Amino acid sequence: MLHRTFALLCVVIGSTTAFAQLPWNALDPDQSTALSFKGNVVRGEAAFVICQGCHRVGALGRLDGSYPRLAGQHAAVIVKQLVDVRSGRRNNPKMLPFADHQALSVQDIADIAVYVQQLPVPPDHGRGDGKDLTQGRRLYERDCAACHGPNGMGDASRFFPRISGQHYRYLVRESQLIRSGERRNANPDMIKAIIHYSDQEIAAVADFVTRLPVSGR
Ligand code: HEC
Ligand code: HEC
Repeated sequence: MLHRTFALLCVVIGSTTAFAQLPWNALDPDQSTALSFKGNVVRGEAAFVICQGCHRVGALGRLDGSYPRLAGQHAAVIVKQLVDVRSGRRNNPKMLPFADHQALSVQDIADIAVYVQQLPVPPDHGRGDGKDLTQGRRLYERDCAACHGPNGMGDASRFFPRISGQHYRYLVRESQLIRSGERRNANPDMIKAIIHYSDQEIAAVADFVTRLPVSGR
């Protein structure tokens, strides 16, 4: 019995280590398969019903930052983040039962991704106090725009998320989780960009991002 417990423990520790060593964008078979499937918006809407309890109808997320807005996010980013959660590269114990292999097929992932991508992004998403916008702009243009784009639209082909239209509090929280390494699936160059930021600098840049235009996709 002891031996079996020990062997099991080794397997568990072994696999955790394997996750930690995977590159941020390791091509998971589910990821490449979902990206190769053609998503269907109507099926995606039906499959998204189980997500709405947290992400809300219209994938609007919550102003308090507890649940991100998914509306308008690039389909490729949705696919990557979902696959990262279910393969253990990104911690999200709350969401895991809704995203694991029993709950979602790879086709469901492809369908949900195209469904949320085309949803409109309303402008209300909270803001900071507006006091450090000049500094926020300077930091954004220097450290973030190269990947997230001048308008915060990201880049689907490189899995860089759209951050315009995202809730202020979510932007702050995720920036902190990426800085501390807790969000383990983040691009190492994103970590490099933010690792020396103070909480004040994170708040300033997030405040600036919330003021980027949200119109258009
Ligand atoms: C029980 C609540 C819950 C449910 C149900 C849920 N999620 Fe989530 N989801 C979360 C939380 C919490 C986060 C943010 C985690 C964090 O802060 O790192 C999240 C994050 C995400 C992200 C990453 C977004 C980003 O900007 O990084 C995606 C994509 C996502 N969820 C998709 C889905 C889909 C699709 C479903 C339905 C199949 C779903 N979620 C169901 C709680 C939930
Ligand atoms: C090298 C490209 C790169 C740079 C530079 C970069 N990011 Fe990112 N950022 C990414 C990638 C890639 C992700 C998604 C990581 C993942 O897969 O989990 C991300 C994720 C994020 C998220 C979470 C978004 C979400 O939907 O969950 C925020 C917030 C963010 N970045 C803000 C910033 C800020 C602020 C800066 C500048 C200080 C910055 N990024 C610089 C590439 C970059």
